Amino acid sequence: MCGIIGYCGQKPGAAIVIEALKRLEYRGYDSAGIASLCDGRLLIKKDAGKLEEVVHKQGLAELPGNVTVGHTRWATHGAVTQANAHPHSDCTGRIAVVHNGIIENNQELRRELTGLGHRFTSDTDTEVIAHLLEDELKNGRALEQVVLSIVPRLEGSYAFLAASLDDPGKIVGTRKNNPLVVGIDSPNYYISSDALAFSTYTNKVMTLDDNEVVVLSPGRIEFLDARGSKTVKQVKQLDHSWAENSRGIYPHFMLKEIMEQADVLGQTIQQDQKTFNRIALDILRARQVIITACGSSRYAALVGRYLFSKVGKRFCDVVMASEFGYFADSVDKGTVVVAVSQSGETADVVEGVKAAKAAEAQVISIVNRPNSILADMSDHVIYLNCGPEIAVAATKSFLSQLAIFYLLSYAMVSSFDEAASSLIGLCGETTRVLDWNKSELIRLSETLKDSSDFYYLARGINFAIASEGALKLKEISYIHAEGMPAGELKHGTLALIEPGTPVVVICPADYTFSETLSNAIEAKSRGAYIIGVSDKESDVYDSWIRIPRVEELLYPMVAVVPLQLLAYYLAISRGCDPDKPRNLAKSVTVK
Ligand code: F6R
Repeated sequence: MCGIIGYCGQKPGAAIVIEALKRLEYRGYDSAGIASLCDGRLLIKKDAGKLEEVVHKQGLAELPGNVTVGHTRWATHGAVTQANAHPHSDCTGRIAVVHNGIIENNQELRRELTGLGHRFTSDTDTEVIAHLLEDELKNGRALEQVVLSIVPRLEGSYAFLAASLDDPGKIVGTRKNNPLVVGIDSPNYYISSDALAFSTYTNKVMTLDDNEVVVLSPGRIEFLDARGSKTVKQVKQLDHSWAENSRGIYPHFMLKEIMEQADVLGQTIQQDQKTFNRIALDILRARQVIITACGSSRYAALVGRYLFSKVGKRFCDVVMASEFGYFADSVDKGTVVVAVSQSGETADVVEGVKAAKAAEAQVISIVNRPNSILADMSDHVIYLNCGPEIAVAATKSFLSQLAIFYLLSYAMVSSFDEAASSLIGLCGETTRVLDWNKSELIRLSETLKDSSDFYYLARGINFAIASEGALKLKEISYIHAEGMPAGELKHGTLALIEPGTPVVVICPADYTFSETLSNAIEAKSRGAYIIGVSDKESDVYDSWIRIPRVEELLYPMVAVVPLQLLAYYLAISRGCDPDKPRNLAKSVTVK
């Protein structure tokens, strides 16, 4: 959460940094600000509010200078106020710092620095960095040396950039457990939490290792290790699709990402079969297999668990990444941990994988973003290949994750090719299901927009789709929703069903059909309004969301798509911004 960007070069920095912040808004959007060094002055403008509002209100675009840093915030320490917006400065106003992450020992450092006479102007953890730098810079040392000297004092996770009037003309950046990537277009350099921020200018990137420091000045770049010795880095080439950041004809990124899923599926299938076969063999040979993930990625993992069991006859467990550490005692060398994360930087997943690695487990990650922390830590990486997902709510990445689990499970029985061709056949179905149901979903969103609760039911492999459908709805329309195995309804939740309560029943004509339908009838006889997501019509449904008839194990992929669209239209009917839901950020880099 929070996006940081720095630009150092020959062009006016403010325009570049503002454009970059627009691309980073998915990481946080409650406040924004930029700082620029120009003619012996450090100019900082910032405020609470969405980037566009802050740009206009504070005149961010007017800041002169070509050494510029910027920030878009998702509040963790301190309320959403102008004072807490980044960049932060020291007592003298000669240093600017932008930060992503959490300084866990900030209270102790704040007490110590206050005791030494420092005056704090915000409630953030970040501000301690600026004051620590201030003390050290007084001795006339280079900014990078000062950064290296204070970093051992910081506990927690961070990526931060610093610029100072005492060593002008440069930006110094460093990271620990949070992403930071440099863009090269000499003599212009960019540095950000995500290469997407500067991908219109360059696709040549260099990544930083934990505790490494980078120094950018116009025409010059230098990497230092934690001891201050120079290091040599490789330039990597970023795939062109990662520069794409336009909504095209769509009013929201979420709608675009839902609509483009047929193409995305086609890209996801482009995988190296040999790698899949090797990974599948490791999974089959392991003493135990644990899949770990958060949010939507965890629901994809739950579908994966059924696929591993049904196709590969391989039982595995799915452990919520935030709980993984509590099971770490039973992880060992014979364990394969499959970590699933669109961003590849979710703090809980990264922590879980660290614990797994410490126990010598083999780590396989399924990620979307290139150059992510998780990918770097893993023994094998499978990429989703679904391009940047900008809307906060996961849609196309979820479908890609399902496709990867499907391919992996069939690789366990040496049938990768067969699975890939089934998925090719499915691409058109994901579009068809949208065409069939669009008008009914719009109608439903108008009819049900004032409902306070939704329940989503399904059985077997589709149970996780019920949870995913409910999560989408909660996230972007702020309606309470619960997904559960249909059989669980009568063990408590049935008490909450009242006349008119919407109950979405995922009821494909497969081995779960009759029992799921019976559960729908139980809810209907208490007055529920039944929305049946099925390829088989029934008079139990008050509304029928028709899905195509597909192979049993592919139903999750066609069932989830209309549920994403239902959530989208409900958000719109309720006047919510589906791309930027309140209190959420796409990359959750704090625990
Ligand atoms: C749901 C959503 C979140 C993420 C979760 C994990 O729409 O976007 O629940 O799925 O934060 O994120 P990744 O997959 O990046 O680890």
